[in-house]
Amino acid sequence: MAKKDIDWNNLGFGYIKTDKRYVSNFKNGSWDDGIMTEDDQITMSECACVLQYAQTVFEGMKAYTTADGHVVCFRPDMNAERMEQSAKRLEMPAFPKDRFVEAVVKTIEENIDFVPPYGSGATLYIRPYMFGSNAVIGVKPAEEYQFRVFATPVGPYFKGGAKPITIRVSDFDRAATHGTGHIKAGLNYAMSLHAIVDAHNQGYDENMYLDAATRTKVEETGGANFIFVTKDNKVVTPKSNSILPSITRRSLMVVAKDYLGLEVEEREVYFDEVKDFAECGLCGTAAVISPVGKVVNHGEEICFPSGMEKMGPITQKLRDTLTGIQMGTIEAPEGWIKVIK
Ligand code: PLP
Ligand code: COI
Repeated sequence: MAKKDIDWNNLGFGYIKTDKRYVSNFKNGSWDDGIMTEDDQITMSECACVLQYAQTVFEGMKAYTTADGHVVCFRPDMNAERMEQSAKRLEMPAFPKDRFVEAVVKTIEENIDFVPPYGSGATLYIRPYMFGSNAVIGVKPAEEYQFRVFATPVGPYFKGGAKPITIRVSDFDRAATHGTGHIKAGLNYAMSLHAIVDAHNQGYDENMYLDAATRTKVEETGGANFIFVTKDNKVVTPKSNSILPSITRRSLMVVAKDYLGLEVEEREVYFDEVKDFAECGLCGTAAVISPVGKVVNHGEEICFPSGMEKMGPITQKLRDTLTGIQMGTIEAPEGWIKVIK
């Protein structure tokens, strides 16, 4: 089989239908064996719990072509674990973690010609998700569920790739203090849609959300965690119970400490401190590490010394090391890389 005829070097972060996807159904208290199918359409009751009450959780991960021509994915066991936590919080049955990883592997294997080549800057984005599918009208969890995994080749999440972006402090909250910010539920993204459209209309690339209770602490953006670098090269990331525990961020903290010998701190970060940092970046599967050049808070600008032309030196080192690990040019910590082919 040959690679698909796709302009890999110019892909944006969008959906392209691929050949196969994985589907498993939960009914009468158990998951069926699951199949791979060409059918990308879903038919369900007009009253399905997901449609009426947003009972859906998802994951995001990537498959990479390595420098020596293998196809790998990054820490899928972590996504399996997080999806289990997400499902629990929305009263959904867990999809077994080993089967989650198998489904991801199958989906990559059966769409192998869609995995972008090494060096193209593109990757195959994998989207596992689960939703309540039977009719529910009183507010309660569904009894039937569907777990699916599809794949789509993607380029950079922010236009311009690794060029610094400008973000604004949002007046909207992303997640309640004791709410669902720590899980990957569709509802967290639905509530961010107005804020992101408004940010784009005002000329900003993303929103910086503050903690809902005091609006003094940095939380995250709509789709990534923050990493800051102090003027003395310490890597700092916000600690909060209402942000998503990013797998990229947790991996970067290991990279910073063990590969780059930097001091790392996961702690509450007050917005008042942001002006004192040397570098700022957004990290996540989609974002990788996207440098932030400027944060605007109601007209007041914080411009990081790293500027708007290129990412700061520590951000660059973190990015190069992480992507080196993912693309097989730097040795990975034990268990981080799952070889598909
Ligand atoms: N925060 C939010 C709100 C996200 O949607 C994502 C994306 O998955 C992340 C952070 C980054 O998480 P990860 O690094 O696990 O992709
Ligand atoms: C990811 O990085 O996988 C996400 O889910 C973020 C999303 C905004 C695309």
